[in-house]
Amino acid sequence: MTLTTKLEPLNTSFSLGNALRFIEGPNGFVLAALTSEKASATVALHGGHVLSFVPKGQPPVIWMSDEAQYREGKAIRGGIPVCWPWFGPHPDDPEKQAHGFARNLEWTVFSARMINNESPQLHLTLRDDALTRSIWDHAFHLEMIITLTDELKVELQIKNTGDTAFTSGGALHTYLSISQISQISIHGLEGARYIDQLDPSGLKTQEGEIRFTAETDNIYLDTTATCRLVDPGMHREIYVDKLGSRSTVVWNPWINKAARMSDFGDNEYLEMVCIETANAASDTVVIAPGETHRLGTTIRVASL
Ligand code: BG6
Repeated sequence: MTLTTKLEPLNTSFSLGNALRFIEGPNGFVLAALTSEKASATVALHGGHVLSFVPKGQPPVIWMSDEAQYREGKAIRGGIPVCWPWFGPHPDDPEKQAHGFARNLEWTVFSARMINNESPQLHLTLRDDALTRSIWDHAFHLEMIITLTDELKVELQIKNTGDTAFTSGGALHTYLSISQISQISIHGLEGARYIDQLDPSGLKTQEGEIRFTAETDNIYLDTTATCRLVDPGMHREIYVDKLGSRSTVVWNPWINKAARMSDFGDNEYLEMVCIETANAASDTVVIAPGETHRLGTTIRVASL
């Protein structure tokens, strides 16, 4: 199918005028472009992946790599990858792709509508099929609901449509755009216990705010706290609220890991940080047949 023959029926069925339309993205990817009075956002059908969120008159809030690759079967570096059904390496099988398969597959548009006449909302879906069954043998129905006001609200609904319970891990792996990694701080996780993925010596406790002076890859456990990223260089704070998530992952690859990643610029570690709304390690959830788990995050910005 050519791109035009993909875009036309999507726009005919789901366009909301200027508030939501389907456009061509890099390498012919289909994107939904959402616009509210106060912000704009784009979402790729590939991965159900939010690529951008820009409040009016402000620099982007969500970070995207200049080296991101837009290829079938590959996750896009930046934005909000949907990591599911597991977080990080597969718990038993190192051959399976890190962070699950949801971020690498094509999602389907289910509906689009206006909320209160002013906020576009997009519903995407992903269901199990022969491919997902070959990787992870469970029946599921995912819904990704993206709502744009002056905030960006992202909710992943995970329904077990099979007849046995399954364990659901994962993350809304949010990349945030910052002025300079050494200038920012993250607040809200003070006192939380965490797994330092770079130091297997045991659980640690977060003392005070988070600052960055080296590679950082921490899974904060059993926390539902809102995180506040303070960025004096951009004169703003970014709030990351969450729902249905007991872990928060904070990640910056720093110099060596940045150099090892083919889709990440060598100096890009300076201008991004991830605050991920997750259920990882001991915080995974078990979803019974017929039950739905909601994993959500809301990103909002305030001036400093
Ligand atoms: C983070 C992990 O969530 O994602 C890191 O904690 C990982 O360990 C990072 O390096 C990026 O993962 P990927 O698979 O997108 O390169």
